[in-house]
Amino acid sequence: MVELQGRVAIVTGAGRGLGREYARYLAARGVRVVVNDRGVTNEGKGCDESAATTVVNEIVADGGEAVADHADVASWDGAEAMVQHALDAFGELDILINNAGILRDSTIVKMTEEDFDAVIRVHLKGHAAPTKWAATYWREQAHAGSDRRRNLVHTSSTSGIYANPGQSNYGPAKSGIVTFSQIAAAELAQYGVVSNCVLPGARTRLTLSSPGLPEIMQAPGEGFDQWNPANVAPVVAYLAGAGCPFNGAAFYVQGGTVRRLEPWGLTGDSIERPVRWQLDELDDAMQTFVDR
Ligand SMILES: NC(=O)c1ccc[n+]([C@@H]2O[C@H](COP(=O)([O-])OP(=O)(O)OC[C@H]3O[C@@H](n4cnc5c(N)ncnc54)[C@H](O)[C@@H]3O)[C@@H](O)[C@H]2O)c1
Repeated sequence: MVELQGRVAIVTGAGRGLGREYARYLAARGVRVVVNDRGVTNEGKGCDESAATTVVNEIVADGGEAVADHADVASWDGAEAMVQHALDAFGELDILINNAGILRDSTIVKMTEEDFDAVIRVHLKGHAAPTKWAATYWREQAHAGSDRRRNLVHTSSTSGIYANPGQSNYGPAKSGIVTFSQIAAAELAQYGVVSNCVLPGARTRLTLSSPGLPEIMQAPGEGFDQWNPANVAPVVAYLAGAGCPFNGAAFYVQGGTVRRLEPWGLTGDSIERPVRWQLDELDDAMQTFVDR
């Protein structure tokens, strides 16, 4: 049984797409939710507070409890205020789902410094800042004797694993998030925290802006809509449950498919020498790895 009832969650970027589905799914299961969203464009521009407020209104109309938060997830101070918002509104924080994201695709040659920085900032720092302040609170609580279970769910992407051309800002941010999640898993277990990642696949504003994807992700006239973002919500809710048995894991989630990501690792092949390699020896020796 996944334990969610009575818990408190922050879901970042919950005004649209996947985050909205997570927030609504959790709220329907008795979780009190801080719906964070800055209401920016796909590229991370502007600020529309109605994105978060609309989702809060939907949750409340369905009988759930939620408050809207408009902090920029990548701001250290904004993230601290967001965590405080959960504590002020609901007196607790059990779950942080880091989900907010933007895209500014470009080839490396055409990439501007601003587009590179903006995407790294929102994704990587936008995971680190809320985690820092949630973890700070959770450590205080653990030191004060609390034995509550806490859950971090982070958002990576297949782009971070399969190296999509045109996403040299987004891809490294998303692979970095898997490593960030594993570091959080190792550091925060002592405070009762588990940290896991999802790599979702769904039809949202973000994916509908990517060439080729709208055709693939079209909703069928009938039958199972495998690209519906609501499909990802049960797995995220499972990872957000108090009894979640995973820590440091990452799962690809799309439609009815869930697959676990293999951790980084070394292959079995190795070349060895008891002293430093000489350049002219490597020409032959490195053949061991060619085509492996
Ligand atoms: N949709 C997919 O198939 C897919 C695949 C892989 C990864 N993802 C990841 O899933 C997450 C959700 O994406 P989505 O597809 O639902 O996109 P979306 O555009 O529908 O939702 C993202 C939300 O994040 C908000 N946001 C952006 N920057 C913010 C900031 N600085 N502070 C607060 N809110 C901010 C936006 O306003 C937006 O409402 C992203 O991290 C994305 O990279 C999505």
